[in-house]
Amino acid sequence: MSEAVEVDGQIRADLPPLEVEHVSVRFGAIKALSDVSFAVAPGAIHAVIGPNGAGKSTMFNVLSGVYKAAEGQVRFGDARLDRMRPYQIADVGVARAFQNIALSGAQSVAENLMLGRHHLTRAGFLSAGLRLPRATREGRRHGERVAEIAEFLDLGDKLHTPVGVLSYGDQKRVEVARALCTEPRLLLLDEPVAGMNAEETERMADAIREIRSALGISIILVEHDMGMVMSLADRVTVLDFGRLIADGTPAEVQTDPEVIRAYLGSGNETDPSLVAADAPTDPPESRP
Ligand SMILES: Nc1ncnc2c1ncn2[C@@H]1O[C@H](COP(=O)(O)OP(=O)(O)OP(=O)(O)O)[C@@H](O)[C@H]1O
Ligand SMILES: [Mg+2]
Repeated sequence: MSEAVEVDGQIRADLPPLEVEHVSVRFGAIKALSDVSFAVAPGAIHAVIGPNGAGKSTMFNVLSGVYKAAEGQVRFGDARLDRMRPYQIADVGVARAFQNIALSGAQSVAENLMLGRHHLTRAGFLSAGLRLPRATREGRRHGERVAEIAEFLDLGDKLHTPVGVLSYGDQKRVEVARALCTEPRLLLLDEPVAGMNAEETERMADAIREIRSALGISIILVEHDMGMVMSLADRVTVLDFGRLIADGTPAEVQTDPEVIRAYLGSGNETDPSLVAADAPTDPPESRP
């Protein structure tokens, strides 16, 4: 189920699969996730989709250690993510770019990206504050990497610009760059193109493709933009009311009757690209 995906012939050698097994999360009487299992192959772009309230953000919160699963396991190689705290999950190479931009608007792009490198800093605050040679060398190395990652996301000329004055599309790319600055092996992207115009969306899609091919890391994408999901993802997991209702290639899930029913019946804006030409034309059944 989790065969490695070829990425220009090179996937990071230390890249394990992510395995979600029988995960359930409850909030009082609400079952936000019920017995959900899926695997993300090394080097894959794996989308998690579903109507509003399906449990997508809850799944991301489990993967990043914000919520504890009531049942089930999450494994990333040898690491049991379900038993770890958020900073430990970051240490094993899982980084998350947030849906709502979590940047400091008054600080420059470079300063925001530098924050992403904190957990990689060895010299410590004291020696950095005293400007000891080791700290200075290390600081320079981090600065170079930050500049590289900014360049990679088309932000090279904005390194010294306060984040608050950037366009929305640029800010979302800074958020992705900040996550990349932690040197992740698995990148979690929560609705990276929400609220973007068509041009910004296309630019972000290109950036995601490049991240995968240049860095050879795995990416999980929660996204409502079906055009983007279907063009980017190698595999798609579909949630509805906390249950997994489909898991397959974009072509497979697009034509899956249960997926079509979930979207048509949800009152969500129906995206015609999800409803393939050869899909059944029966009227949607009313939802429970
Ligand atoms: N902290 C919480 N406390 C109580 N209920 C919660 C909490 N977080 C999520 N839920 C509930 O769990 C269910 C799944 O929510 P979740 O936010 O994971 O959905 P989603 O798929 O991300 O939806 P959207 O597409 O709207 O972002 C919903 O019924 C939601 O109200
Ligand atoms: Mg959500």
